[in-house]
Amino acid sequence: ATPAAPAAFDLAAWRAPADAEIPAGPLGASVRRGLALVRDTPDSLPAYAPGQIACTNCHLDGGRAPGTAPMAGAFARYPKHMARSGAVVGLADRVNYCFTRSLAGRPLPHASREMEDILAYLAWLSRGVPVGEGHRLPGADGQPPIPDGAALAQSLPGDSARGAAVYAAQCASCHGADGAGRVYETGGRVPALWGARSYAVGASMARQERAAAFIWHNMPLGRPRSLTPEQAYDVAAYVNAHPRPDSPGKADDWPAGGAPKDVPYALASGHAAFRAAPVLPRARARETIVPVPARAP
Ligand code: HEC
Ligand code: HEC
Repeated sequence: ATPAAPAAFDLAAWRAPADAEIPAGPLGASVRRGLALVRDTPDSLPAYAPGQIACTNCHLDGGRAPGTAPMAGAFARYPKHMARSGAVVGLADRVNYCFTRSLAGRPLPHASREMEDILAYLAWLSRGVPVGEGHRLPGADGQPPIPDGAALAQSLPGDSARGAAVYAAQCASCHGADGAGRVYETGGRVPALWGARSYAVGASMARQERAAAFIWHNMPLGRPRSLTPEQAYDVAAYVNAHPRPDSPGKADDWPAGGAPKDVPYALASGHAAFRAAPVLPRARARETIVPVPARAP
């Protein structure tokens, strides 16, 4: 008898598994450790994540939340060609882009228990998504845009003076007037939004439109989508006008051109910086770069 054709994959009906579904046994132990590493990154891996910011501070709900560049499903989309690197990169390198840029840290060795555990977690989080078919949760490859802000995004507005007032009223109570975040007595952390312990200038969050979209969809925490689109653009402009760690080698991004308009630094391929903000030098600069893999011949 001919086996029945498998049902077509239905992304809308798919759900990332819940933490309670992590299996027992050695694989489950690895997945659980990967979850701990992405949730408590600075405590677990201080040499690689020296800041006041962890993976799941941006990839909310353990990487499941659709409005936050979900990690769920990512395992089925790699390796892929990334225009920013100008190369085909695997998931370990993609994780390391977030270590070096979003955490302003250093790349985790591919051949380490910790990288294997993070990949085990990401694979488990993508359970059931067919590999290589290009399925993307809403917001994959970046946050979904602000729906009624589409027209505003065309001109990437944002007034940092107005944003300062939004910040003082709606953000400073948690993130601090100095943007440095905090650690509560209970151990809970609020991540840093600028300064030496926040994301680096080469992170997607340093781009005006990406930051505004993240903020509009998710912040203030507990009151998502309560800002007007204009307030989200204004406060993103204010946050990203502050100094943050440099990303050495950033001028080599988008080597074939095609950089988004809001990339805040100049590129060798000919892009002019969008509202360049001051950067803080990185110690051992060479160790903060993920080498671009060679092209397939
Ligand atoms: C009630 C406290 C609270 C308020 C108010 C709040 N945040 Fe957050 N914010 C957090 C926490 C906690 C996280 C990390 C979330 C997590 O780990 O689940 C976060 C994450 C972030 C991130 C991503 C991580 C990072 O460090 O870049 C940004 C950006 C951000 N907030 C910006 C803002 C802005 C802008 C406002 C004001 C419009 C705001 N937040 C208001 C608590 C808050
Ligand atoms: C400052 C916020 C921030 C932090 C912290 C962060 N990321 Fe990301 N990450 C992003 C954004 C934004 C994207 C999507 C980039 C884009 O716009 O294309 C992304 C993309 C990714 C992707 C690719 C998703 C896909 O579908 O292509 C993976 C995997 C990932 N991050 C893993 C991690 C891991 C692991 C960590 C911790 C070591 C981490 N991220 C920390 C913001 C962050």
